[in-house]
Amino acid sequence: MEIKEYLKKQAEYINRKISEFIPSGRPEKLFEAMAYSLTAGGKRIRPVLIIESAKAVGMENIDEIADIAVASEFIHTYSLIHDDLPAMDDDDLRRGKPTCHRVYGEAIAILAGDGLQSYAFEIVSTNRTVSPDKLIKVINLLAHGTGIYGMVGGQAADILHEKENSFNDIQFIHTHKTAKFIQSCCQIGAVLADANEKEEKALKNYGLYIGLAFQIWDDVLDEIGDEEKLGKKTKKDRDKNKLTYPSIYGLEKSKKIAKDYVEMAINEINILKSPEILQEIAKYIISREV
Ligand code: IPE
Ligand code: IPE
Ligand code: MG
Ligand code: MG
Ligand code: MG
Repeated sequence: MEIKEYLKKQAEYINRKISEFIPSGRPEKLFEAMAYSLTAGGKRIRPVLIIESAKAVGMENIDEIADIAVASEFIHTYSLIHDDLPAMDDDDLRRGKPTCHRVYGEAIAILAGDGLQSYAFEIVSTNRTVSPDKLIKVINLLAHGTGIYGMVGGQAADILHEKENSFNDIQFIHTHKTAKFIQSCCQIGAVLADANEKEEKALKNYGLYIGLAFQIWDDVLDEIGDEEKLGKKTKKDRDKNKLTYPSIYGLEKSKKIAKDYVEMAINEINILKSPEILQEIAKYIISREV
């Protein structure tokens, strides 16, 4: 099966699992807003990476960790809702639909993001099949990759650059806003599958390299991608004076750098039991149109 087809099938699996975990309650509008963004679409690449990383070191019973994979998508969805807010990137379109704040208003969108984030940790800590010591590691990796030393730090640097032209290290921004979370997902897979030290290290490096390639490619798609396919506005980074790879290196050099990271990622995981799917995912990241 081609990797694109395979990822589609895996995303469908994740979608089924997400639907089992969508919460309901009062006030309805808050829950509606969370569900709206969770079900709007998306590649589901982070949960898929958790699962495929675990499989690459030999884990078979994936259903046992599906809730943890789902939790990563709750956190990712929160990050998109907040990223699109007027105070941040001010976007109207996400996953082919009006952004959360466009439909529910800013206050509810902020709270929907907050709610998705904390509920993700509720989901993980409610798992009763994975041992408590592993769950603590998972929680730590999720918090670390998405928090002040990860995504939140990177998002702050991204915004500060745009407004003050300070914090202008592109490598810092891309590593933190995107790669650290993706890296955590790969490490979570390793922890859940009882990877040995060497395997864990390989997946950690793989995660960082594909994470960087992922954000470089996101920048490239903002320049040359198709708005309809992407389901989000293009050419907005330039308008907002964002620090991106194309803005510094130009398109061709950016693509080349992304390709180099993908090659590094592929080599890094040769030592795993079954690295093939992860290696295909790495290549897909820099060939995707979405
Ligand atoms: C978009 O993430 C934001 C970045 C970190 C680049 P994705 O490209 O994974 O978005 P979805 O989940 O598929 O919509
Ligand atoms: C990544 O950067 C955003 C997050 C970490 C959530 P972008 O701001 O470039 O993501 P898009 O292009 O809006 O999806
Ligand atoms: Mg942004
Ligand atoms: Mg954005
Ligand atoms: Mg972007």
